[in-house]
Amino acid sequence: MIRYHALGQLPPKKHIQFRQPSGELYTEQLFSTHGFSGPMSTMYHINQPTEVTGWEDLGKVKPEYLDDEALRHRHFKTARMQPRGNFLSGRIPLMGNGDCTWLQALIAEPMKPKCFYKNAEADEILFFHDGEGVLESMYGDVEIRPGDYIVVPRGTIYRVELKSYPSRMIAIESFGPVSTPKRYRNQYGQMMEHAPFTERDFRPPHELKTYDVREEHEVIVASRGRHTLYKYPFHPFDIVGWDGYVYPVAFSIHDFQPITGQIHMPPPIHQTFIGNGFVICSFCPRILDFHPEAIKIPYNHSNVDSDEVLYYCNDKFGSRKGIEEGSITLHPLGIPHGPQPGAVEASMPHTETKELAVMLDTYRPLKMTAQSLEIEDPDYWKSWQTR
Ligand SMILES: [Fe+2]
Repeated sequence: MIRYHALGQLPPKKHIQFRQPSGELYTEQLFSTHGFSGPMSTMYHINQPTEVTGWEDLGKVKPEYLDDEALRHRHFKTARMQPRGNFLSGRIPLMGNGDCTWLQALIAEPMKPKCFYKNAEADEILFFHDGEGVLESMYGDVEIRPGDYIVVPRGTIYRVELKSYPSRMIAIESFGPVSTPKRYRNQYGQMMEHAPFTERDFRPPHELKTYDVREEHEVIVASRGRHTLYKYPFHPFDIVGWDGYVYPVAFSIHDFQPITGQIHMPPPIHQTFIGNGFVICSFCPRILDFHPEAIKIPYNHSNVDSDEVLYYCNDKFGSRKGIEEGSITLHPLGIPHGPQPGAVEASMPHTETKELAVMLDTYRPLKMTAQSLEIEDPDYWKSWQTR
């Protein structure tokens, strides 16, 4: 995603003989995106990645969206959620559209041993609010720290092992590729000096673990709105080496370097990732606008063509009232939003903010699920009333 990376053993050239100590050939697999024109990786398996002993239909998992509802500002309290399932089965779809899905999890337990997951129809941006552990993948292990985003390219076989439960996670599924904003990279793909992060902040898999084990392992594959259980006669992490540009990568929200200004800077300064039809922004602790007469929190604005979703990692968001840690607000296109009454004057004495939040802005309206209504605060729209 960010740069070329390689782990393990590789032959000197692609598509030449590369043999195991037994004399058998390793099996080469090209993992390519956008046909053969997008980022790709090449990997070498001990076994044939095409060999399976069986498969089973686990049924439909497509989110069921409600019909379009009356236009209003929304507030959802994830603190009302009960711990449920593992990093996959615990995901509850709250909203989505044809470009992305927002799934919320309060993970209760680890996935059973010898079981893995592959999302074959979406790249995933996982955000671990407080989880700590490791994302084990066929490309190697990626350490998980609280506040990490981990971008998992579609097709990656992986599982998540956390040190403690319950643990809060957001999974944003992106039906197009995910990258960093192009304006932060030069024509060679390198991060430029004005970017709010550098290559050093992105953590690729650091350790490749290769398992030469002939025992049944299961991979749940998400595709076509269903889960299919694939049974492999070997451990799916049987790769001895890989190289390329496709692999899971971690980026901590705490490593985002906020851009600040004399007067209020617009939300694009917070952009962290972009996908087809949406952006993801990180609102991080920073000094506030330093013009002597600056208004230090956002002005009212009409997002005429985008829905704005904010997940609050703490309750210190200067322009918002009535939110709590774990709140999600949705300010839809079509009606203005802005600071609640009193918030502007209250912000004046402050020189810094401790806010920490993840924002998803979509260019097409989001549809809600019935599950989201179970944690909704229906009175949020009244929070702008002045009397
Ligand atoms: Fe906004």
